[in-house]
Amino acid sequence: MTIHIGATIDEIADTVLLPGDPMRAKWAAEQFLTSPRLVNQVRGMFGYTGTFNGNRVTIQGSGMGMPSLSIYANELIRDYNAQTLIRIGSCGGMQPNIDIRDIILAQTTTYVTTPSSTVMKEISFSPCADFELIKNAHSFAESKGFKTHVGNIYSSDTFYDERADLNEQMVRHGVLAVEMEAAELYTLAARFNRKALAILTVSDHLQTGEALPSDEREKTFAQMVEVALAAAFPTK
Ligand code: HPA
Repeated sequence: MTIHIGATIDEIADTVLLPGDPMRAKWAAEQFLTSPRLVNQVRGMFGYTGTFNGNRVTIQGSGMGMPSLSIYANELIRDYNAQTLIRIGSCGGMQPNIDIRDIILAQTTTYVTTPSSTVMKEISFSPCADFELIKNAHSFAESKGFKTHVGNIYSSDTFYDERADLNEQMVRHGVLAVEMEAAELYTLAARFNRKALAILTVSDHLQTGEALPSDEREKTFAQMVEVALAAAFPTK
């Protein structure tokens, strides 16, 4: 047990999927895992462990934003020895060729600050995803006909943003989408020599103002879970 996770050490799998929303963790575990068991409910941040094709998997809510994700990722890595951490979440599209419902595999992330900024000091660290996970995720997503993009995203500290000028520079430099967690996840994976990937569906678009209807959110979330499981456990 840790401060924020009530599971015993052996109740957390080597592979952990991290949706921001704890209710999504419950839904995904019930839909995709065999014999899912609730292993954490501290602060209502549900975590479930079960199996997928015989492989043990934990699906643990991370909360919103990098400070929250950092707490869960640190404890999963340092205390539970998690090896592969895959964020599944939503993002706001930032390029004209990105559409609502598209899947984004975050190859790298741009940020202003992360909880690790004080550690990095003058270093402009480039958080990047594990190549094998990207490769597996990409080939599975393509095989399913999901429209998928691989590239740079922006991990922001604000949802209600007051700095339009920052977004303008991101768009100008080809950043695909904005979310709020991946940069810290990748930085922690680098620090502790673990594998990480963020798989995101475009839930809204910053330029067009279009947003995914709420009745479609479940379907797109299911696609991400499928991609995440295929990335962690490729069949060939
Ligand atoms: N900003 C930050 N995070 C997000 C957004 C956004 O517009 N959409 C989905 N996650």
